[in-house]
Amino acid sequence: MMSDVLEDIERTRQEALRAIGAAADAEALERTRIDFLGSKGRLTELTRSLGSLPREERPAAGQAANRAKEEVARAHKAALEALGPARPEAPELDVSLPGRRPAMGHRHLISRTAHEICQIFAKLGLSVVEGPEVETDYYNFEALNFPRDHPSRDMQETLFVGDGLLLRTHTSPVQIRTMEKSGPPVWIVVPGKTYRRDDDITHSPMFNQIEGLVVDKGITMADLKGVLTAFASSFFSADTRIRLRPSFFPFTEPSAEVDIACVLCGGRGCRLCKGSGWLELLGSGMVDPALYGFVGYDPGEVSGFAFGLGVDRAAMLKYGLSSIRHLYEGDLRFSRQF
Ligand code: DAH
Repeated sequence: MMSDVLEDIERTRQEALRAIGAAADAEALERTRIDFLGSKGRLTELTRSLGSLPREERPAAGQAANRAKEEVARAHKAALEALGPARPEAPELDVSLPGRRPAMGHRHLISRTAHEICQIFAKLGLSVVEGPEVETDYYNFEALNFPRDHPSRDMQETLFVGDGLLLRTHTSPVQIRTMEKSGPPVWIVVPGKTYRRDDDITHSPMFNQIEGLVVDKGITMADLKGVLTAFASSFFSADTRIRLRPSFFPFTEPSAEVDIACVLCGGRGCRLCKGSGWLELLGSGMVDPALYGFVGYDPGEVSGFAFGLGVDRAAMLKYGLSSIRHLYEGDLRFSRQF
């Protein structure tokens, strides 16, 4: 029926215009074009179906269909233009503007300090090795001559992670790991992260240490003192004095705490050194021969010294930091100063 076809065309035209009006972006708009004007679009199909109308009705119906298609195509084009160009035009290049500097990062003070310390020992002939942060009781305690149930273990505030594993409380286990792997001589420094249940302005539960171990023929305490004096004068200042104070560590015998002359007052006594003129820097000593038993070295053949120092503490002393927190808070205002 002629009137049915015309109604069909009119309804489809209106639907198409509504759909175009509602299309929010180029993609939706393209969908309406395909739906109505594409090769299988509704207006296209409708035009095609006119062939089955009686001959005399075809011209009028054909005209109506063509008008509808043209109108819809126009509306589609206008809507597309209203959306604007697909991509914003590139802004004009102004070569007279100052260039934009890329933000440059740099090593964190901790990494820098650890690196600097390792460099100093490397010049003295020690090589840098590393070890795991998750350790076994054996390497962290047992083979370092901490007997089971010995009170010296208490001082280590250990964080256990289950399955006989723990977060290493010091870098000393790498002494054992290294000696176990290769025979003497051993000349190493070991930088790395260490963990203890401590948390205040001079202690962080995660901190950084550097271990030193020299085992060779005829090593004496004089070598220990010589190496550490060289270190102190290179890391702090050329005239930095050190002193050795008797102490105790299960894995060294004898053991010594090493102090440096106060970096602030030079030894006269001030607030920083609490009037003593000295600042505690690190622990050290002659390797306890008991350790050689664990790694198969002959104590009659070799002797050695070891030391362990806190990188955080060394950085605090060298740069006059008031709290260890500054090193771990990630505040750029702090980090940028170094
Ligand atoms: N491992 C000790 C600690 O963290 C530090 C230390 C002391 C290391 C004496 C040594 C040493 O190698 O000889 O408390």
